[in-house]
Amino acid sequence: MSNPLLRLLLPLLLLLLPPPLREYFSASHRPKDAGFSGELHPVVLVPGQSCNDLEARLTEAYKPSAPRCGAMKGNEWFGLWKNVSDLAAHDYVDCFVEQMRLVYDPAINDYRNLPGVETRVLNFGSARGFRDKDPLYPKRCVDSIREALEIVGYRDGDTLFGAPYDWRYAPPVPGQQSQVYSCYFKQFKSLVEAASKKHHKKVIIFGHSYGGMVVVLEFVRNAPLAWRNKYINHLILVAPVLSAGFLQQARTIASGPADFGYVGATQSSIRTMWRSFETGTVDLPSPKVFGHKPLVITKQRNYSAYDMEDFLVAIGFSDGVQPFRRRMVPKMRYFKAPMVPITCINGVGIRTAEQLVYWESDYYDSSQN
Ligand SMILES: *[C@@H]1O[C@H](CO)[C@@H](O)[C@H](O)[C@H]1NC(C)=O
Ligand SMILES: *[C@@H]1O[C@H](CO)[C@@H](O)[C@H](O)[C@H]1NC(C)=O
Repeated sequence: MSNPLLRLLLPLLLLLLPPPLREYFSASHRPKDAGFSGELHPVVLVPGQSCNDLEARLTEAYKPSAPRCGAMKGNEWFGLWKNVSDLAAHDYVDCFVEQMRLVYDPAINDYRNLPGVETRVLNFGSARGFRDKDPLYPKRCVDSIREALEIVGYRDGDTLFGAPYDWRYAPPVPGQQSQVYSCYFKQFKSLVEAASKKHHKKVIIFGHSYGGMVVVLEFVRNAPLAWRNKYINHLILVAPVLSAGFLQQARTIASGPADFGYVGATQSSIRTMWRSFETGTVDLPSPKVFGHKPLVITKQRNYSAYDMEDFLVAIGFSDGVQPFRRRMVPKMRYFKAPMVPITCINGVGIRTAEQLVYWESDYYDSSQN
């Protein structure tokens, strides 16, 4: 097995085999001595959105909407997006929804936290720090690929790494500013450089879902071409397109995310939180792809990908128009290739919506509450 990419994909393919065959093949490729790891290209894993843990700290500047939400003011860091069952246990769900919110600042054309709420992402550098918050999916956070890589000799912190991110923010395309992502990209670069220098090998970056579609892609596209050539062996993007289709983003900004039920908050408060996220308006259907096709149908009028600003107004989210125009539209028009070897792995045969019909303009999907 001399091809490093094949060696990386092998564990993935092994997972598809029936268990007895899997045993047979994986045993024959198990490393026999420590020298084996010298041949491995370091791998950085970047998981999907909800896998990343966030902690918060409240300062005096925080103005809680209810006094009990200010109870943690002046205290140390606590888990905000970490163990979601804990929120309900501490009657903290409403406070959580408020403290997760972002604010768009038109003066700097960038997003930031609510005043007085500081946040940090945990476990940067480790591939073992990810956990899905939805108890129904205990292994959705690149666990299978990590375990498979460990079988072929990868070790966390040596040849295997993770780059968790603050998933409420969306990374910039080249030419845009983002305070949060300029720090993140710096950290990510140092991680890649250190891993590459240590093993005298270029690095493979593996992104799943939003982690691949947006974060990894923009990390690479924002890096100078010479840096990419020097340090990146391969990009592997798994399910880098929205599995429910791009209209899902339009539906989610209208009604709020349907799959956040486990948080225990009402659909309307989750929707308010979601609309404040920079991620909320990222990946709405692009005119370059969807053209003038009617995507959202109502009795009065239809909306195509060209009409997304009007659609935001129609769903009662006029505040979203300016940030959408100034931050998202440039992203939707940016189609430059990352210019490194790349493999995309997509599902096939998955039904996706082509049109949303809100005949009576009842955008709020009350069935979800
Ligand atoms: C999450 O929080 C719940 C409720 O407070 C607690 O019972 C559980 O042990 C916590 N889980 C983890 C992994 O910390
Ligand atoms: C909206 O689109 C549908 C389906 O494409 C079409 O039948 C209908 O006439 C359009 N409605 C308006 C108001 O343009």
